[in-house]
Amino acid sequence: MLLHVEEVYKTYTRSKGWRRQKQKVLDNVSFTLEKGESLGLVGESGSGKSTLARIISGIERPDSGNVLLNGKSLHYRQHRHQQLSIVFQDYTTSVNPTMTVYSMISEPLSQQNYLPPLLLRDQVAGLLKKVGLSPDLMTRYPHELSGGQSQRVCIARALATHPSLIILDEAVSSLDIPAQVQILDLLEELKQEFRLSYFFITHNIQTLCYFCQRVLFFNEHSIVAQSSINDLSTIEHPYAKALLNSVID
Ligand SMILES: Nc1ncnc2c1ncn2[C@@H]1O[C@H](COP(=O)(O)OP(=O)(O)O)[C@@H](O)[C@H]1O
Ligand SMILES: [Mg+2]
Repeated sequence: MLLHVEEVYKTYTRSKGWRRQKQKVLDNVSFTLEKGESLGLVGESGSGKSTLARIISGIERPDSGNVLLNGKSLHYRQHRHQQLSIVFQDYTTSVNPTMTVYSMISEPLSQQNYLPPLLLRDQVAGLLKKVGLSPDLMTRYPHELSGGQSQRVCIARALATHPSLIILDEAVSSLDIPAQVQILDLLEELKQEFRLSYFFITHNIQTLCYFCQRVLFFNEHSIVAQSSINDLSTIEHPYAKALLNSVID
């Protein structure tokens, strides 16, 4: 087992005028992800999926519960260092607009250990080629890239530290369908080559079915059902059924 999420709870406190209100976002979330698996999580917008992604990647702490990667708690920075990367939906918000493609991809590489500039350049060029981009793009800024190119840069950056798990949080959702398919096929190739596992978060069950082997249905702040893609027709839970029917109709 690669990832084990154990009884994770999270609430946010919101100020409403002079009142403070607690908002439950994650309510006892538990699941496992096996090595080599592409596991999907589907749920509506605002249901807490990105919060879960941030907690798994260690950006945010849960109120209680545990996240184990390779059996080690991710509370400790050194345990998650290099092992886990995350790709977000919207490159315009997830990418620093003042950073070139080169600095985006070289940043995690040079944080890992010192590399002489020429070697660093070679590695960045190699990663760009892996994601189907020309090394000529190195000097570009995010606004000079198409949506598909930007997501490829984000994937190259995610690959830089040789992680065992990549979290894809709506990573293709802002692209049109042909670009989505291209990126998903690229991710599938990279998965084999780099022996990756994916946690694929989306509000769109169709992309999930194209990409994943197993699906978790997320509703009302917790996982209400799970199924392998092949067994979706036997699913009983009303929320999961409604979601699937909405695609067939
Ligand atoms: N840092 C935060 N502070 C307060 N509320 C937040 C924060 N992040 C998310 N929320 C709230 O938590 C809920 C879940 O958000 P999110 O995890 O982004 O959902 P999803 O990714 O499923 O759309 C939303 O109502 C959102 O407004
Ligand atoms: Mg989200």
